[in-house]
Amino acid sequence: MQTNFLVIGSGISGLNFALQAAKKGKVVIVTKKKLVDSNTNFAQGGIAAVLDQTDNFEKHIEDTLKTGTYHNNKKAIEFMVKNSADAIYRLIDLGVKFQKENGKLSLTKEGGHSHRRIAFVGDYTGKEIERILVKRVKEHPNITILEDSFALKLLTQKSFLRGKTCVGAQIIRGNKIENIFADQTILSTGGVGQLFLHTTNPPIATGDGIAMASQIGCKIKDMEFIQFHPTALNENTFPKFLISETVRGEGAKLVNEKGERFMSNIHPLKDLAPRDIAAREIYKQQKTSQVFLDIRHKSREYLKKRFPQIYEKLKKLKIDMAKDLIPVTPAAHYECGGIEVDLSGRTNVKNLFAFGEVTCTGVHGANRLASNSLLEALVFSNQVAKNLTSTQAVKKIKIENPKLLKENSKETLLAKKLRQEIKNIMWRYSGIVRNRKKIKKEAIPKMIKIAKYLRKTKGTNQEIAETLNMAQVSLLILKAAYKRRKSIGCHFVEF
Ligand code: SIN
Repeated sequence: MQTNFLVIGSGISGLNFALQAAKKGKVVIVTKKKLVDSNTNFAQGGIAAVLDQTDNFEKHIEDTLKTGTYHNNKKAIEFMVKNSADAIYRLIDLGVKFQKENGKLSLTKEGGHSHRRIAFVGDYTGKEIERILVKRVKEHPNITILEDSFALKLLTQKSFLRGKTCVGAQIIRGNKIENIFADQTILSTGGVGQLFLHTTNPPIATGDGIAMASQIGCKIKDMEFIQFHPTALNENTFPKFLISETVRGEGAKLVNEKGERFMSNIHPLKDLAPRDIAAREIYKQQKTSQVFLDIRHKSREYLKKRFPQIYEKLKKLKIDMAKDLIPVTPAAHYECGGIEVDLSGRTNVKNLFAFGEVTCTGVHGANRLASNSLLEALVFSNQVAKNLTSTQAVKKIKIENPKLLKENSKETLLAKKLRQEIKNIMWRYSGIVRNRKKIKKEAIPKMIKIAKYLRKTKGTNQEIAETLNMAQVSLLILKAAYKRRKSIGCHFVEF
């Protein structure tokens, strides 16, 4: 198969890019499950943007820098913030109905924000954006969607004059291997939450894009900065259900078993301190007490209307958020680092672009400001699409296809076990508090062994390739965490 643009992944950035690029050529979207199966769908909070007259660019930029502990790329933040309102208006034009009051957009707050600046749709903002983008993409005559199609690796060509160029990807589809050639290939495969035992991310978040990009020599940056969301629901589920930070934005308090508001003396923003600080404090509290969210001061009518998804989920678990405390715990939520890209989403490999969580634009620094992720995904994919110029057809090249193994093969069953081991190792050694000595002596050797074994497997399939991706990305995180000696942002070391 041959196309102008090959988009791998179907979150907000991939779909938004596809819509923009379809104005200029043929687009193929490859997604390993269904079109709607993405991290975007799980995003409850909203999109941060400068929309209120009493807010301004400088405040949003400063909040982003402060939360990112000034490890950020200020140029990238300025670019994102200055384009934030346009990104929201574009979604409105596409059909997203953000909540309004008296004809004006309602704005909420989350951790680290000095101003109410988050546009939202109930507590299912991501789901609603994804629904609209999926609808628009399906309607578009220039876009072909390949669901249940897993990208195995990126295809490259090397020439003396042009250096290494990405020419498409090899995919598994319907138990067959296919090569898709493209003038430009775009990675929008999302995050890495599934590398950890406890995460708010869906099963697709196995770090595939970062693994594929690093295999062909893309620069990868800031991988140690894994953000742990402070308030996942403390239930034994995989993934964990998120209790949006906007619940605290609307007045919920963090309390321990004694009813103490333990965040009060920790940070000037108290319960709305940046996520790294809140997650660490909860982790500390959990040594002696369970931790809860308390929003019982709000009426049932208000809670049902403002947080319909959370209200119903808790009701099913026999938790009445109008009367009961909500048990919460931190869980892996977001990778602040990723494939290094410029303001146009270009990687260091020719004709390979990336955007969304898979990238490191430098916007987030050492810790992401809440609700900047959907914004980053939108703003950068808007610009990338605008900057695309003429395309150049790729000549087909000969590629060797690996042997596909059955789902019940012994290699596949072993990969399943190794996947669980990876999650345990990452949670233990690369969690909220890290010990560099143990990372070097225990975690890295264990992970190298897992990756070596998987690499040696003769033949492949989605389970095996995904698990190898997880091991490779885990190694990138562990090595980066070992290298960074001092605590900063989400990277907190005890030794
Ligand atoms: C949340 O609603 O708490 C998550 C939003 C985000 O990760 O920015």
